[in-house]
This record gives sequence, structure tokens and C-alpha cells, in this order.
Amino acid sequence: MAAGQEYDVDRDAVSTHGWGLATDAWADVQGLVYSGYGTLPWARALFLDLTHAQSGWLTSLRAVAPITDGRPIVEPKVCVDKAAAIAFTGAGLAAMGLGEDALRTFSRPFREGMHQQNRRRRLGDDGPTVVDGGPQWSGNTPTSLETPDTVHALLLVYHRSEADLDRYAEEARGTLLAQKVAIVREINLDIKPDQRGKVREHFGFADGVSQPLPYLDNGRDGPPGHDPWNEIPLGEILIGYRNAHAEIAPGPQVPATDSAARWELLDSGNAPEGFRDLGLNGTYMVVRELRQDVGRFWTSLDNQAAILRRQGGDAGQVTAEWLAERIVGRDRDGRLLCPVGTSVAEGDNRFGFRSRDPHGFGCPLGSHVRRANPRDGLAPDEDSAETLRAAANNHRIMRRGRKFGRVIADPRHDDGEERGLLFICLNTDIARQFEFVQQTWLLNPNFATLYQERDPLVGPNGPLTIPQDPLRRIVDVETYIELVGGEYFFLPGIRALAYLESL
Ligand code: HEM
Repeated sequence: MAAGQEYDVDRDAVSTHGWGLATDAWADVQGLVYSGYGTLPWARALFLDLTHAQSGWLTSLRAVAPITDGRPIVEPKVCVDKAAAIAFTGAGLAAMGLGEDALRTFSRPFREGMHQQNRRRRLGDDGPTVVDGGPQWSGNTPTSLETPDTVHALLLVYHRSEADLDRYAEEARGTLLAQKVAIVREINLDIKPDQRGKVREHFGFADGVSQPLPYLDNGRDGPPGHDPWNEIPLGEILIGYRNAHAEIAPGPQVPATDSAARWELLDSGNAPEGFRDLGLNGTYMVVRELRQDVGRFWTSLDNQAAILRRQGGDAGQVTAEWLAERIVGRDRDGRLLCPVGTSVAEGDNRFGFRSRDPHGFGCPLGSHVRRANPRDGLAPDEDSAETLRAAANNHRIMRRGRKFGRVIADPRHDDGEERGLLFICLNTDIARQFEFVQQTWLLNPNFATLYQERDPLVGPNGPLTIPQDPLRRIVDVETYIELVGGEYFFLPGIRALAYLESL
């Protein structure tokens, strides 16, 4: 960054106080942790295979695409023109030469990988919500018999303009290829706002609306209290800090048997004697490439709406749009659906369900947002609302995904093009955060007293109950979203990255 250069405010940063962490500390954190780079709408994901990589590949890459740290990103008046982030799978770290004794210290889900048999079942990835023939790429477990694409690392590059992104990504690409790094998959991503300034996913709904608000928990003062619905301890998102269980979020460590000079690149951090902290200021990154069938989504909802309208009565007004909103739980512009006569202001994310909409007359109990973050809505009574809200906040994730593929011209007409969401989320405990959300909330057939229903957006074919007074409606929703591939990655801190580079 040149001194004196003019910058815009990064509107995407969820707060401007740097979550209570000193700016210096952000020098060791990748900027992606703090911000989804909303001012850099164009991005590219490069999935790397390091099998034949030359040893200096990461140094060469960092010379053309420096991995962005958090310092400029947390500054309210600063906005960078481009950014880069990098993360590794377990197989990738092994390919880079990280020893087995260090690999063993990573969390179990990361070591086993997303496609390990039990995880696949729990995540619903051995059913109909996976593309024909099975996932096309993974990190740790080959998923397809034919041509399994093994991903060792994911490089994300971001730019302010589309043309500049092309040049930036091409430069990174050329450097990687020269270093014998294979690029097994490349996806263009964007979060370009539409004419109304809204960032939307492919079905047309505002995305990235609700995010947790991390704060540095020093064990004394408690949360700032500005937003009890979304405040979570920093250790939920960043390894090495106190998490929601008042423990230091654990991460990987490197034992002293390693070469001393290299070992000292790492901080002692929270590591016990004889170890150095590889996890400090890093996090786990969940990546799922989810293909969306936009034509099917809207035509199927047109058909369902027609069926309901034929039933007459107050169903006479039902449209595909009305059903789609109930599937998501918010309207297209991101406003929460509320019971008649009540509302939540646009942009206000500080709300619960228990007292304002206990039966789901506004936002259906089984809708995507209510399952993905039930807030206090699972409390059986008002007295337990606060306890349940705190419990729900033990399972928050920081979403950093973007859409891929062109926006469909006519949502009712399939154009045969591939599009979807590269779902990315950050968390320090994959099992307690991402996997819990997917298994215990999104795919739980008995969620919130419902029976045999799953998330209507990301789940398989099935019913969705739309509670209404006096009668509820039950509609059949289809599978519109399929998993193309995915894996768990480790997004290292900057010092840890230097250590990995030195291997
Ligand atoms: C293609 C797939 C998906 C689409 C199109 C999608 C779409 C949306 C939309 C439109 C919202 C509401 C706006 C917002 O708060 O950002 C939302 C919220 C959310 N989604 Fe998804 N989503 C998808 C997959 C997933 C998956 C796989 C998960 C987690 C396992 C997930 C977790 C969440 C969470 C945590 C929220 C915020 C809920 C809240 O705090 O109120 N989503 N999603």
C-alpha cells in the first residue's frame, strides 16, 4: 500500500473496532478472517495440487500475490485494491512436508476430511444432494473412482475490477505452473451488487446478511453487550483465543524435534513446553462447492403455488415468490419474515424468535435461516429463552462464500450453464460449529417439533410446513442444490504461513 493513497471504507467489515484485537495482532491474521472483501467484488478460487511442486513455490507465489494480513483490513478508512488468501488441506500439509507428529495435532474432522465415511453420512453427502457420480473433488479422501481431483491448497485472489482480477490471477497462475504446482480446478467468483446495491445468491436472495460479531474475551469484562444476539468470543473464529466454552480454542502444534531455526519462526503462543504454536491466529475453513439449479427452483415453486391456489380459500394468493421467501425465511432483500403486524427493520439482525414469532407464523420453523441459526427459537418457554440463545451462539460460523457462474437471464428457463455458491465458512471447531449446523439443525428431520422435514433449501426432496393461522400448509419442495465437491482446510496465520513456506 503506498502511503498517502486514498482508500474507501470497507463496508463489508462487520465492525470497525477490529473485534477488540490490537491492530498489531492483525498483522499475524489473514484479512479474510475479518472481512469477506466486499469492496473487491471479483475473485477467483484456484485449487492446487502440490504433488510435483518445487520447494520454493509458496515463496514465488507470495512474491506475485502476497497473502493479505488483517492490518489494512481492520482500518476503517482503508480499503485495499486486491487481496489474496491461502488455505491447506491435511493432505496438502503432508505434501508440503509437515511431519506426522505435527499433523496429528490438528483437529479430528480436519485430519479425516469432509468425505470420511461417517462425516459423509452426517453431512447428508451420501444421498441425493450430491452430483451424479459423487463429488468431483476432495482433499483427503478420493471421492470418485474415475478422476478424483485431490486438492492440497486453495488460493483465493480478489480484485476491485474484473479486468484487473484476470491479470492478477493470470500472474499467480503462471507462477504456480512454473513451480510445477498443478491447478486442478479454477472457479470465478463474485459478489457484485445488483442495481439496487444488494449482493444476491443465484435464487435472487440477499446473501451475507447475518453474521456473528466476534469480540476479544479477556475472561473479565464479558461481551460488549451491543448485540447479544450475535456477539461471540473471538476464539470461535480464531485459534488461540478464548472460545464460547471459556477455553483457548485449540490448534495444531509443532514439536521441538524440527529444525531449530525454522521452528523459531513460530510463536510459542499457547503451546506447551517443547512445542511451538502452528495454529495461533489461524482457523479452519470449510469449503463446499454447491451447484444451484435456478430453473428447477422457480418452475417447481410455480407448480407448487398452482397446486395451492387450486385449493382456494386464502391460498388463492400464493405465488412462487411467496413460497421461496418461506423456504429462506427472509424476503429477497434480506428482511426477516415476521407475523402480520410486526416487523424487523432492514439491516437489523438483533432479534430472537421466541417472543416475536414462537410458532413460525412469520418465519417458518423449518425455513433455512431459522434452522441455520435458531437463536432463542428452540426455547420451550420464555424463562429458558436466554439460555437457549446462548446455546445457539455456540454454533455460529463466519460465512465467506461467493457465488460462481453467470446470473441466469430468465430464472424460469434453464440455460444449461453451471452456477452456484462456493460456500466458505470459518470456525475453530468444525464438529461443534459447521458440522453441528449442517447435521443437527439443517438436516435434522425432527428439528423444532417438525416431523420428517429437512432444510428446504439445501436438503433433499421433502415437505416444508408453513405454519399459518388457523391452518398450516405443507408444501413439497425439491432438491435444487447439489454438492460438487468440498473439503476442510486450515487457514494459517501469517507466521505459521512463513513456517510452512520454510519446510
Ligand atoms: C447454495 C446454498 C445456500 C444458499 C443459496 C444459502 C442462502 C442463504 C440465504 C439467502 C440466507 C439469508 C441471508 C443471510 O443471512 O445471509 C442464508 C443464511 C444463512 N445460511 Fe445459507 N445458504 C446456502 C447454504 C448454507 C449452508 C450449507 C450453511 C451451513 C451449513 C448455511 C448457513 C447459513 C447461516 C448460518 C445463515 C445465517 C442465519 C442467521 O444467522 O440468521 N447456508 N443462507
